Amino acid sequence: MRIDRLVLTEFRNYERLVWTPRSRLVVLTGENGAGKTNLLEALSLLAPGRGLRGASNAQIQRQQGGPWGVVARLSDNRTGEVKLATGADPATPARRVFRLNGEVARNQGMIAPVFSTIWLTPQMDRLFSDPASGRRRFLDRLVLALDANHARESAAHERALTQRNRLLATRPDQNSWLDALEDSIARHAVALTAARMALTEA
Ligand SMILES: Nc1ncnc2c1ncn2[C@@H]1O[C@H](COP(=O)(O)OP(=O)(O)O)[C@@H](O)[C@H]1O
Ligand SMILES: [Mg+2]
Repeated sequence: MRIDRLVLTEFRNYERLVWTPRSRLVVLTGENGAGKTNLLEALSLLAPGRGLRGASNAQIQRQQGGPWGVVARLSDNRTGEVKLATGADPATPARRVFRLNGEVARNQGMIAPVFSTIWLTPQMDRLFSDPASGRRRFLDRLVLALDANHARESAAHERALTQRNRLLATRPDQNSWLDALEDSIARHAVALTAARMALTEA
């Protein structure tokens, strides 16, 4: 995927910025406070979630400015050109809305297949020293960035585990029901593991 054009409006220190990256690999340099991280934050907000800084709309909107917005023109060889936009909802300023090719996205699930980001910032350095469970969660975030199906498999796996445990507690004599749930747990676990391995290979 390539970002062909990025437009920021009333975003942090940017009243308006139009950026057309010339290369797929970009290095941002500039004085402290110039707006480098702000630009990365804007990109991070094109994906569902609260972005790089977990900030609210009120924090993101430029001081003394109007509602903030980020618009990107993206392209890849598979899906062609896509226009993706996000920003504060004019009707409910605390909410964030997405537009995909000009249409309001009814749910964030529509965005995930189009755009994903992953970041590793100095604030996350505990990832290297904390227990491995944190690194496993990070691995799953990496997988999610490549495979939108991973979240569904993960949720289905959790659901099957919960049902199996409840059944064991309440009706442990239901063998064929238990077998079916075990089968489902195994299938989802295999799918999750395969996706993690494919990412590791990549
Ligand atoms: N809502 C806002 N309105 C206006 N300026 C902001 C807002 N939020 C942050 N800034 C400004 O953005 C600058 C920090 O930008 P940042 O991208 O973190 O800098 P750096 O280039 O060092 O990464 C600061 O000067 C700060 O005052
Ligand atoms: Mg910075």
